[in-house]
Amino acid sequence: PVLVVDFGAQYAQLIARRVREANVYSEIVPSSMPVAEMLAKDPAAVILSGGPSSVYAEGAPQVDPALFGTGVPTFGICYGFQAMAQALGGEVAQTGLSEFGGTRITVTSEGSTLFAGTPEKQTVWMSHGDAVHRAPDGFTVVAVSDGAPVAGFEDTSRGLAGVQFHPEVMHSEHGQKVLEHFLYDIAKLEPTWTASNVIDEQVAAIRAQVGDGLVICGLSGGVDSAVAAALVHKAVGDNLTCVFVDHGLLRKGEREQVEKDYVAATGIRLKVVDAVDRFLDELDGVVDPEEKRKTIGRLFIRVFEDAAREVVEEAGAHGQQVDYLVQGTLYPDVVESGGGTGTANIKSHHNVGGLPDDLQFSLVEPLRTLFKDEVRAVGAELGLPPEMVWRHPFPGPGLAIRIVGAVSRDRLAVLREADAIVREETAAAGVDRDIWQLPVVLLADVRSVGVQGDGRTYGHPIVLRPVSSEDAMTADWSRLPYDLLARISTRITNEVREVNRVVLDITSKPPGTIEWE
Ligand code: XMP
Repeated sequence: PVLVVDFGAQYAQLIARRVREANVYSEIVPSSMPVAEMLAKDPAAVILSGGPSSVYAEGAPQVDPALFGTGVPTFGICYGFQAMAQALGGEVAQTGLSEFGGTRITVTSEGSTLFAGTPEKQTVWMSHGDAVHRAPDGFTVVAVSDGAPVAGFEDTSRGLAGVQFHPEVMHSEHGQKVLEHFLYDIAKLEPTWTASNVIDEQVAAIRAQVGDGLVICGLSGGVDSAVAAALVHKAVGDNLTCVFVDHGLLRKGEREQVEKDYVAATGIRLKVVDAVDRFLDELDGVVDPEEKRKTIGRLFIRVFEDAAREVVEEAGAHGQQVDYLVQGTLYPDVVESGGGTGTANIKSHHNVGGLPDDLQFSLVEPLRTLFKDEVRAVGAELGLPPEMVWRHPFPGPGLAIRIVGAVSRDRLAVLREADAIVREETAAAGVDRDIWQLPVVLLADVRSVGVQGDGRTYGHPIVLRPVSSEDAMTADWSRLPYDLLARISTRITNEVREVNRVVLDITSKPPGTIEWE
């Protein structure tokens, strides 16, 4: 892999993604990892990320100069660039002159490998106080800016290079090009990390892990579990059984989509558990969001355990038992849980990932190395229906946390209709791939006065919550076209009788969360 050494900035994941967009496999490692341990991973190249510190700050994370003697091609970005310059005997100065945001640089070397084929003047994204004033011996200075006497350097004979700016952010006009020049032309890597190679590797890994064992997978209808199950099915065929729990909190057509389209596309053996009454009875009168979430989480586990036991019994005929549970864990979860920072419990997230340890299974996690967009690419390559591959995230507790107030069958029916209209219209307008998701929320305990025909109405508002995001940790509200919003509003108020008002949520996250509960 290409190792992205994380110096504690927000950028390491983004760098890792950009490397993979260049079809080269990358992994993130902490800057505290000793060089020997990095070498044990047999890195094809190393990228030193940006970081929040000054190389002069006390306790600033350092680069072990030993790294540069290993022959592993290395690329420094921002802080990593300065740390590299310092470690190799260059000069980093605290100038007090900072550059933040869009900045013009000048490419100073026509023969530059990093900047080959890019214009002499270009805009990049900077964020630095200190600057490299003198490149280490052996390096060619290939770019400068007003605030950075050395904005880029390279020593292709040793496979070393670096830039002061952030090539990984979109605001750096030719950033991806620069990164690719490092990967392909300095580190001499081949673009072989593709969806079909990922599938081959994972199928082999799953077979090696589970052998003839029986495997079970909880399907949520979401893209992650759908792709994970499809991969496992490709590897072990009918030794996999999927369980889909209908808790009555699904959106219109969701169960049918899983039952028909998904099974048709994959041939997976599916067990659908109808637990609608069980869930809705238990949720009766529950208003508090956390209580809703916990109730659903608890019941879900029970229902899933029952289903798992049935699968075991059915399989018992062959004298076997289920040993493996498939989970759709993604790479950001892996990176984040490795970080070990204690974040506040904002919401009790419930999904199949919340299954308890005492479900005596070993885990199969074929998506552990993948980002969401890569999961989608793999899903498409496996031939899953586009509606499934491009499906927006949907929370495990379903529509229950999109009804502000107690959940009931009537209220669910109202929300389901409104939500279906929104999905139809956004799909028709072709905006689904531009937004992260669009929760539709029913304010069930709020009424407002309206007029329709000649009559007074006293109905409920529907809230539209379109958001744009890279990872759901932060989000901005999406600027959907007004005519689309208008069509949605007209259709909902005309077609859903209990709703007489449609409102738009224009709050970013933070301070708002994406879901209302
Ligand atoms: P919030 O509301 O915390 O949501 O900003 C962040 C993302 O997580 C989704 N979400 C959930 N997903 N189980 C899930 O699997 C849950 O309990 C859950 N709650 C929120 C939400 O839709 C958004 O994408």
